[in-house]
Amino acid sequence: MKLWGGRFTKETNQLAHNFNASLPFDRKFYSQDIDGSIAHVTMLAKQGILTDAEKEQIIAGLTSIKEDITNGTLEFNETSEDIHSFVEENLIDRVGDVGKKLHTGRSRNDQVALDMRLYTRDEVLAVDELLKELLTALLTIMKEHTETYMPGFTHLQKAQPVTLAHHVGAYFEMFKRDRSRLSDIYKRMNYCPLGSGALAGTTYPLDRNYTASLLGFDGPTLNSMDGVSDRDYLIEFLSALSTIMMHLSRFSEEVIIWNSNEYRFVELDDAYSTGSSIMPQKKNPDIAELVRGKTGRVYGALFSLLTTMKGLPLAYNKDMQEDKELTFDAIDTAKGCIVLFTGMIASTTFRKDVMEESAKKGFTNATDAADYLVNHGVPFRDAHGIVGQLVLYCIDKNIALDDMTLEEFQAVSPVFQSDIYEAISLKTCVEKRLTIGAPGKAVMDQVIAIYDAYLAE
Ligand code: ARG
Repeated sequence: MKLWGGRFTKETNQLAHNFNASLPFDRKFYSQDIDGSIAHVTMLAKQGILTDAEKEQIIAGLTSIKEDITNGTLEFNETSEDIHSFVEENLIDRVGDVGKKLHTGRSRNDQVALDMRLYTRDEVLAVDELLKELLTALLTIMKEHTETYMPGFTHLQKAQPVTLAHHVGAYFEMFKRDRSRLSDIYKRMNYCPLGSGALAGTTYPLDRNYTASLLGFDGPTLNSMDGVSDRDYLIEFLSALSTIMMHLSRFSEEVIIWNSNEYRFVELDDAYSTGSSIMPQKKNPDIAELVRGKTGRVYGALFSLLTTMKGLPLAYNKDMQEDKELTFDAIDTAKGCIVLFTGMIASTTFRKDVMEESAKKGFTNATDAADYLVNHGVPFRDAHGIVGQLVLYCIDKNIALDDMTLEEFQAVSPVFQSDIYEAISLKTCVEKRLTIGAPGKAVMDQVIAIYDAYLAE
């Protein structure tokens, strides 16, 4: 049955119907659609547009439809155009003519705008909750590894020693910002478009503030043309999801590098890795690679919607129906990636010995050797040159700075004394870095306490 058959004399072409229909995907928000209708009807009765008896009948019908869809006794068909028609048709079947009053003072344009907002509003919270679980897992790793020394990198070359807590802490900051982006988006999107009508509001005396408050919004949207055609909140959400994926992808890339035969910084848990069908020795970081790979898919959704929206005149256009599948897919993809990444990282074993050895081998203490000379009165530029010579010498002999004898040090600069070994030990190099944000254990412990308090909020 069509909601709009009156003006037509011919049946819709079957392919045109299929092309136009959104029920195959907008069924995803059947529960939000029904909640919105219940709020709408409640408001219509409060305003005297429906009687209380009519309201009760409609709500009973809607509630039974929702239950039956949820428990699988009411199945979706191929003939209804969209979830809105499907629910209305079933309502009329169940409660008779009174069901025909449901759509009073409403259009599918403001209805779909509402449904999508209700659906994504819940998803913003769900993604936030998953990020919180990820942050909890990261903080556990940080607490265990404030004295696990490893090379910090620039240009993927060993640069200066840091700790694993410090490295993981960088990701803590990123995902913490992601959460704050989500909460900003939530605040901006939390206005109710219902009552915008097709585009120009309605002549019925609707109480939009009331409907908005019934549905947990901060208020009604203030321009009906914008109310039915705004998809900014989806673009913001997809952008936030893209940023989350970008962060997960960078971290995945590091896990993949750390898991390589050359690095061996980590041992992935068997439960989160896979083997090869032909090479028996393989244990592959598939989860990390898939997270990295799926990032492109989420970016694609963002670009797709930005492109769909860029040429649309006010107000509603059917193009906007294209917002659904890609947004649903991006949300489900990002949620899956956060969950899997959390499980993978929480079960990973970090090889403290290998990381520390790698930091030693990579001249990550060269800056500290130069600082030692500076503390003994050598100008920094000269100190840089002296340590450069030492590094060249060590590369030639395939040893670390720490492995040089005092005579070898002094052959290049007599300023070096026996306390140089203490000054360039990994522990000293890290522990001396005590400005807030640096890897030294004392400041790292302070930051961890701040993160603990943040997660307890
Ligand atoms: N399925 C439509 C969508 O997703 C619902 C709105 C239909 N409105 C209309 N004027 N045809 O956008």
